[in-house]
Amino acid sequence: MLFSPIKIADLKLSNRIAVAPMCQYSAVDGVMTDWHTQHLMQLGYSAAGLVMVEATAVERVGRITHHCTGLYNDFCEISFKKTLEQAKFVSPKSTAFGIQLAHAGRKASTQRPWEGRKSLTENQNPWRTVAPSSIAFEDGWHIPEYLAKEDLERIKKNFVESALRAVKVGFDLIEIHGTHGYLFHQFLSSISNHRADEYGGSLENRMRFPLEVFNSIREALPINFPLGMRITGTEWDKDGIDESEAIIFSKELEKIGCDYLCVSSGGNTPNPQIPIGPHYQVHLAKIIKQNTSMVIRTVGMITDPIKANEIIINEEADMVAIARAFLTNPRWVWDAAKTLNINIDVPPQYARRF
Ligand SMILES: Cc1cc2nc3c(=O)[nH]c(=O)nc-3n(C[C@H](O)[C@H](O)[C@H](O)COP(=O)(O)O)c2cc1C
Repeated sequence: MLFSPIKIADLKLSNRIAVAPMCQYSAVDGVMTDWHTQHLMQLGYSAAGLVMVEATAVERVGRITHHCTGLYNDFCEISFKKTLEQAKFVSPKSTAFGIQLAHAGRKASTQRPWEGRKSLTENQNPWRTVAPSSIAFEDGWHIPEYLAKEDLERIKKNFVESALRAVKVGFDLIEIHGTHGYLFHQFLSSISNHRADEYGGSLENRMRFPLEVFNSIREALPINFPLGMRITGTEWDKDGIDESEAIIFSKELEKIGCDYLCVSSGGNTPNPQIPIGPHYQVHLAKIIKQNTSMVIRTVGMITDPIKANEIIINEEADMVAIARAFLTNPRWVWDAAKTLNINIDVPPQYARRF
């Protein structure tokens, strides 16, 4: 089952394994560098059905760090086009490439993980962050600026423009980053959204901005272009998004033409109590799958191909996304195919490896 094909809108994926989006913090003003070339080329010939490119900011202030990728000007676009062409050159024809479009909101202007992962200090060229409400992520983090209505319009326009650039560049699929404590998650969660206007308060109001942006992107894209979102199944906090809110949000997304969801969790509070362990988010995908008809992807500590196969057999999710296991072993899919006794195409140059 893991190696059976699946369709997202009109896009046929050769198997149900996705490389999860992974920030590389190696760009220069949003522009991809040689690091991205090697990273995406090596994942390109991994034989995963879908390779997701990292969270890519739709405007400068939406970058997490100075080194995040962006798709907000022609320089960025040219670098993406070149890198994607190189990655596609070494990939099986059947491997699709998607991009995750993002805005970090109050979690922007931070150091890279290996530099501390805190808000940038005064001598590190910080920028003013923005959010639904002026509430810092944690003590010592930047206090974000409240987003006025005209700012929301600007962000919406920037999402649409970046999505159109992504199509031009040659991506096969677009994913909107709706979780991990970034801007749309900040709107959805009553922990970070204390607005008194139509974008805050009730769940209907908190969903409004993410849904408006999603809808604008949907309308701007070519018909049937595969479009999905990564969402929060739970915030692991009694005051935050829980499974019931996640179901309602998913159903609203489905109504406006969302093709698939990847169900993740957490990220909007500094120290959530997460029962981390193998497959710790699969139950979240399952509950969304049971309540909607979209393609549902699960993620989180999936490393064993036999168990990954069982997720699909048991109809807990339609696809699995894998992040860190691909960093350890970019040939994870080749090994999984061997374990599950499946023949897959590998580059002929490497075909004699066994
Ligand atoms: C280096 C790294 C970068 C990541 N960057 C992103 C990202 O850009 N967007 C995103 O939604 N998740 C990101 N994540 C989270 C992963 O996509 C994934 O959800 C998480 O690592 C759990 O999956 P795993 O246990 O297979 O690693 C990142 C994770 C890692 C390890």
